[in-house]
Amino acid sequence: MAKIRWLGHSGFEVELANKILLIDPWLTGNPLATMKASDIKKADVVCVTHDHGDHLGDAIEICKRTGATFVGIYELGVFAKENGVKDVVGINIGGTVDVEGISVTMVQAFHSSTRGAPAGFVIKAEGKTIYHTGDTGLFGDMKLIGEIHLPDVALIPIGDYYTMGPKEAAEAVKLIKPAVVIPMHYQTFPVLSPSAEDFIKFVKEKAPKVKVVALKPGEAYQP
Ligand code: NI
Ligand code: MN
Repeated sequence: MAKIRWLGHSGFEVELANKILLIDPWLTGNPLATMKASDIKKADVVCVTHDHGDHLGDAIEICKRTGATFVGIYELGVFAKENGVKDVVGINIGGTVDVEGISVTMVQAFHSSTRGAPAGFVIKAEGKTIYHTGDTGLFGDMKLIGEIHLPDVALIPIGDYYTMGPKEAAEAVKLIKPAVVIPMHYQTFPVLSPSAEDFIKFVKEKAPKVKVVALKPGEAYQP
């Protein structure tokens, strides 16, 4: 059974196909985190959207300790390898790989990064599709990503300043048309939106069929 736990900020622990897949596991120094990196005892796949500290976070340490496969853009994969991660899948935008029975597609994101380009991920297994947009501004091809992959759940940044704010994030939801949207990348820093309230209001206006599930850090949702 699929389960999506919010680790705070852009971090998620996804249980899928009897595997544990982490996305952007930043726990050390994350003011919203309800657990420590060392509390993660098992991980099979770790996907990292880009190399900013609030996303790369504890990914390398977790991969080394648990033996999980690191998935990121090519140049970030090289960095993970150089830092001692054994299993690295360094793909690029548009590519799909099967990792431990989970299909992972890398899609574009409009943001910045030092190593390679920033990205988002579409993750599929057990007939469930999850789209983690990474850090991004709004872009029109979100519609195409939605049409091609038909996500059950979209994980979308709403915090403004470094990514979309609530209004543009609601436009993104309208383009992607997931069944459920889980907001992320807010509350963490003083410059980010303090709550999901405005986002929920804008989604009601622009995409009323989409259900917003605003998790508390540590809470899980089962699609
Ligand atoms: Ni970033
Ligand atoms: Mn970020």
